[in-house]
Amino acid sequence: MKNEMAEVLVRVGPGTTMGTLLRRYWVPVLLQSEIAQPDCAPVRVKILGEKLLAFRDSEGRAGLVDELCAHRGVSLFLGRNEEGGIRCSYHGWKYDVDGQCLEVPSAPQLAAKMSIKSYPCIEQGGIVWAYMGPADMRPEPPGLEWSLLPESQRFATKRLQECGYLQAMEGGIDTTHASWVHRFELDRDPMHRDAHANKYIKADRNAVFDVEPAPHGLEIFGRRNGEQDSFYWRVTQWIFPWYTLIPPFGAHALGGHIWVPIDDENCWAWSINFLPDRPLPQHELAAMKDGQGIHVKYIPGTFQPLANRSNDWLIDRESQKDKRSFSGVEGFSMQDASLQESMGALQNYEGEHLVATDKPIVMTRRALYDAALRLQQGVEPPALGSSSQGVRAAGVLLDRSVKAQDWARQALGGLDQPVYTV
Ligand code: FES
Ligand SMILES: [Fe+2]
Repeated sequence: MKNEMAEVLVRVGPGTTMGTLLRRYWVPVLLQSEIAQPDCAPVRVKILGEKLLAFRDSEGRAGLVDELCAHRGVSLFLGRNEEGGIRCSYHGWKYDVDGQCLEVPSAPQLAAKMSIKSYPCIEQGGIVWAYMGPADMRPEPPGLEWSLLPESQRFATKRLQECGYLQAMEGGIDTTHASWVHRFELDRDPMHRDAHANKYIKADRNAVFDVEPAPHGLEIFGRRNGEQDSFYWRVTQWIFPWYTLIPPFGAHALGGHIWVPIDDENCWAWSINFLPDRPLPQHELAAMKDGQGIHVKYIPGTFQPLANRSNDWLIDRESQKDKRSFSGVEGFSMQDASLQESMGALQNYEGEHLVATDKPIVMTRRALYDAALRLQQGVEPPALGSSSQGVRAAGVLLDRSVKAQDWARQALGGLDQPVYTV
């Protein structure tokens, strides 16, 4: 990819071309549980290069405001969250969830005129989302399937990933790599084992891709050999601007990710499992909480994975030799994250050599790039409507004569359909 295009794609701060596009969508900011109670401790969050503070006021409203006080620029993280707002500890200026200054003790007449930056928040699917775009352009709440399910049917975690969101997200739309780096986990992991899909994924390492533009983003068809008369298709969904849905494995919970830039060189990688029609089984939920499947183990008290760049992702050469892990790194997410972080905080896009199996990556970059440039010319971004986001991934064996796109038009037309999985 030419550097000019890469620069547009990876820069996400205020006023940048891509940053302006991303700010037109609801942004997943933090877990509801991070600000669980009214008047709880505020949480510093950096999103799209902006240093912000999330808190929940006395009435239980979630707020996302500038981290720094309007008076002298002190961090409100050190403030007191009480009686309907956050009060700066230095001279007592106080702000509500809308960033409005409620009190300036030393100059009361000033309060009404003072405010700090704030972004409206909603809570859905266990996540606090913020809207960081122009006030009159706020879209309807997200329509992603997992975000609309009851708590018993979904589980979400987030982890720090030390690289740009784009190279992280590109792992989520690249089904080829499952045949390589994840091949030994497929039979062991509690959220993947015993799925027929594993056999096809391991046997055929050269998926053939078709990518179809869709109202939500891209529908990515990866074809592998199935049985004698069939192909095994993995249908991955990429939803504007940072959601991916993973084709399911057997009867296990469905999965997906969100790739939200913290700044140009770091992102929050969210991992979500869900079942559209029933609660998550207790043993799977326990395994997810233990960091298995697409979740990770953390350094206690943080969202930083235990295996991280500073310790070479705890690579285990014995496990690599014994074929317990293809790369020697443990777990689906850290296998992906380690490879993506190893590219550098921002990969060298001009130096890469893409091949036919990278088609989904090329098309995703193009879709984001075009949407960002068109927005500059006044064309509204795609997939802002919640109904367009209601799509599902699938795994299916189809007769070799059937065109997967034709099948998908019928079978993946809405969320009222059965889950297609093998
Ligand atoms: S710096 Fe916050 S009140 Fe003075
Ligand atoms: Fe992966």
